[in-house]
Amino acid sequence: MSISIILANIVTMGKILIKNIKGLVQYGEDLPLVRRGAEMRTLPILENAFLALEDGFIVAYGSMDDWGGITDWRDLEVIDAEGKFVLPAFCDSHTHTVFAKSREEEFVDRINGLSYEEIALRGGGILNSARKLAEMTEDELFKLALRRIERMKSYGTGALEIKSGYGLSLDAELKMLRVIKRLKKESGLAIKATFLGAHAFPTQFKENHRGYIDLIINEMIPKIAEEELADFIDAFCERNYFSVDEMAEILEAGAKVGLRPKVHVNQFSILGGVKRAVEMNALSVDHLEELGEEDIEALKDSMCIPTILPSCSHFLSIPFGDARRMMDHNLPVALASDFNPGSTPSGNLQFVWSLACVKMKMTPEEALNALTINAAYAMDLSATHGTISVGKQTPILITKEIPNIAYIPYAFGDQHIERIIVQESSNI
Ligand code: NIG
Ligand code: FE
Repeated sequence: MSISIILANIVTMGKILIKNIKGLVQYGEDLPLVRRGAEMRTLPILENAFLALEDGFIVAYGSMDDWGGITDWRDLEVIDAEGKFVLPAFCDSHTHTVFAKSREEEFVDRINGLSYEEIALRGGGILNSARKLAEMTEDELFKLALRRIERMKSYGTGALEIKSGYGLSLDAELKMLRVIKRLKKESGLAIKATFLGAHAFPTQFKENHRGYIDLIINEMIPKIAEEELADFIDAFCERNYFSVDEMAEILEAGAKVGLRPKVHVNQFSILGGVKRAVEMNALSVDHLEELGEEDIEALKDSMCIPTILPSCSHFLSIPFGDARRMMDHNLPVALASDFNPGSTPSGNLQFVWSLACVKMKMTPEEALNALTINAAYAMDLSATHGTISVGKQTPILITKEIPNIAYIPYAFGDQHIERIIVQESSNI
């Protein structure tokens, strides 16, 4: 494995020493798996620090006052980070990065008064994306997604989860998942694949839910297991989409072949999907724009992390997830982009950071925990990503010269990341 710095298309290989760092953020050993509740205000920052990387691994860090550890200066690239902060790259634990085309015509329809749900009921929305994806080759989809990932990376994303769910037929779902498998190999980032065949009922199954669920369980899941195309399984549990029982049946079939649930719940309505998903050992429950007491009760003392998607709330003008209430109940919170062509056409996690602070009243520290250590947990990458710890392989962000970390979400809409240092291998 080797290290590369992606900067204006220049790729540098070798050992790297970053020196004179104004603040080394989110560092430490023996850290918890997640930060929850009041602990989410904790954000370790080491001032005037160095960080050493070798063969894709973090090998040392500390204060510039005692950086005597470096003895071999051969093939060592030294980066001066004076005035700059260094942090672990963001993890984006919920995205739909593989899709065929953008949907700005629906955006205009919404400006003119239609709701997201009304557009979907007219055959737009997810079904619109599925029609477009059916016409596109695997190769075209791969190239488009890779370009999107490069862009996300430039904003600081160092690992991402990608869902299928714009296929909705055996062939097209497999096509999407094969594209994600290729992205795993060729993007240079750690990627997790989630099977989301239960994203919407295709038109021909509108009145025949049993038929589509049978297709998912008897044809899609076995083939996906055989080709090892997914890490997780998802379902969109919502009125007009999948009921709690339908979701549970599909998650159970996924669990039998080793796919852990990560689900869409409570975007528009509370159906009881949170509790059921937690009972089924879900790793995360995502969206939660709507949140009931029973949902909080279900999440307490569980290993399931609530994940909030503020860019989706912003774009659809729906409520923002109530992170404060979750933290008041000592829950951990993760933040993700939900990048997709319908509800969130942005994969910029710096913007998510800002929205979390401005609209959800998370402090900059809480929101950064939600984008790093907690987000790594939400996609099962705690061992390698989310914190700056010896032995981890997380990509590293170097900011521009900024006064402090709060400046990033404060000066919203700007690009504050100067460099992302990414290891070349993605075989995590
Ligand atoms: O997470 N809510 C379900 N799925 C996506 C949106 C899909 C789309 O509109 O294309 C979401 O918001
Ligand atoms: Fe989503």
